[in-house]
Amino acid sequence: MSRPQHFGWFLARGFGPHGWGHPYLDWNYRWTEPALYQDSVRALEQAGFDLLIIEDAPSLGSPRTIDLRIRHAFGGPKHDPLLLAPYLFAATSHLGVVPTVNPAASLPYTAARQFATLQHLSGHRLGINVVTDTGSARHFGIAPQLDHDGAYDRAEEWLAGIRALWNSWGDGALIADPAHGRYADGALLAPVQHRGEYFSFDGPLNAIPFTDGEPAIVSPGGSGRGLAFAGANSAVQLALAPLDEKSITEYRAKIHASAVAHGRSPDDIKILFAIQPVIVSSPEEADRLVAASRHPDEAAIRYIAERQSSDLETDLTALDLDAPLDLSVFGEHVSHGSIRRLVGAHDADTPLRTILAAHAKLGRISDRSGFVGTANEFADLIEELGSWGNDGVLLWGDLHPVTVHRVLDDLVPILRRRGVLRTEYAAGGLQANLRAF
Ligand SMILES: Cc1cc2nc3c(=O)[nH]c(=O)nc-3n(C[C@H](O)[C@H](O)[C@H](O)COP(=O)(O)O)c2cc1C
Repeated sequence: MSRPQHFGWFLARGFGPHGWGHPYLDWNYRWTEPALYQDSVRALEQAGFDLLIIEDAPSLGSPRTIDLRIRHAFGGPKHDPLLLAPYLFAATSHLGVVPTVNPAASLPYTAARQFATLQHLSGHRLGINVVTDTGSARHFGIAPQLDHDGAYDRAEEWLAGIRALWNSWGDGALIADPAHGRYADGALLAPVQHRGEYFSFDGPLNAIPFTDGEPAIVSPGGSGRGLAFAGANSAVQLALAPLDEKSITEYRAKIHASAVAHGRSPDDIKILFAIQPVIVSSPEEADRLVAASRHPDEAAIRYIAERQSSDLETDLTALDLDAPLDLSVFGEHVSHGSIRRLVGAHDADTPLRTILAAHAKLGRISDRSGFVGTANEFADLIEELGSWGNDGVLLWGDLHPVTVHRVLDDLVPILRRRGVLRTEYAAGGLQANLRAF
């Protein structure tokens, strides 16, 4: 038997109309209402998952390229996942729900109170995915846009402020005992007067303290500064890295070093690598899919161009696909990392069509060239990751019952039989489940 790992689902394109252009749309696809997501989280809980993380971006992006983002609904609209969370909690009893929140978008006092309310409402199952994207700054006042590290500094000040507010009710402040004739002792509340670089506010918080720990902090940043933030602050890291032993070991070591430097134990943070498997019923089917992906048709190339145009906020669909890609089409607002990910190892003479076709290419799980394979092959990969000390994985995709069942129905019984997936939930909510092994 292998040792157990933690499993999560990452709704990687937020709370939006993912069914647009998909056969889902044909029947009861009401993405603005809770039913589809409630059915999905029930399936995740039935499978024994720890948590669902919901990506978010509060903005439609650069004003000049909004049409590219919403034309096919790749980059928006997105509704607020914090407000979806109570509906998901109501449909489940154990699953953690982790909306994404940007410290630029909510003041610490408001955030601390909202999160405390949801933590109590949910039976201590809330997590918060803290992101540092600065592109939406213009929606939140006139302060200048921060740089990369400045956004992390602000996130740390925001989080420390929130934690001070959560802890503003000292031990014994909440009495709630009719025999005493008192509900609470105001003398035991700390005033919390925060005057920082980014925020100024007073406490104490108008919400009662937690019985089973704070909401779990989740973080996704992969830079040195991002990994240091995770080690210092997070209960879960949403990790992206090549899934080989060296990359995984190095990624984990950086976060663990930061955890120890901040007086925490490496066990205090679970590092979950994000994977999107394509589970098929036989090795032959997997081979066929991979072979077909080497020759994408015109519609597939167009789909990739539309998706990349949304992500890169640059209209690739208007370019000549058979000419080399002129990098000057990308404005200042496009990150260099994103351009590098698009171009890959191709040289300057490569036609755009070839660059796009490379993004259609799938690989097999069995030879570690990709993520197409049978449930058994995928379980082998997860066991191998576990043998390198991995804490768990995040499967990502949209959050529709069909997608969730397609990925989980064959996989879950295999993982459970192999001892990789939990057989019971702990009492005490998300943090208790994360600490169970
Ligand atoms: C896997 C992953 C998921 C992310 N999810 C979000 C998100 O949901 N919303 C958002 O605004 N930014 C998101 N980000 C952006 C990060 O919060 C951060 O701003 C960005 O990655 C730059 O930090 P880094 O250089 O440390 O990675 C995500 C980043 C990664 C790598």
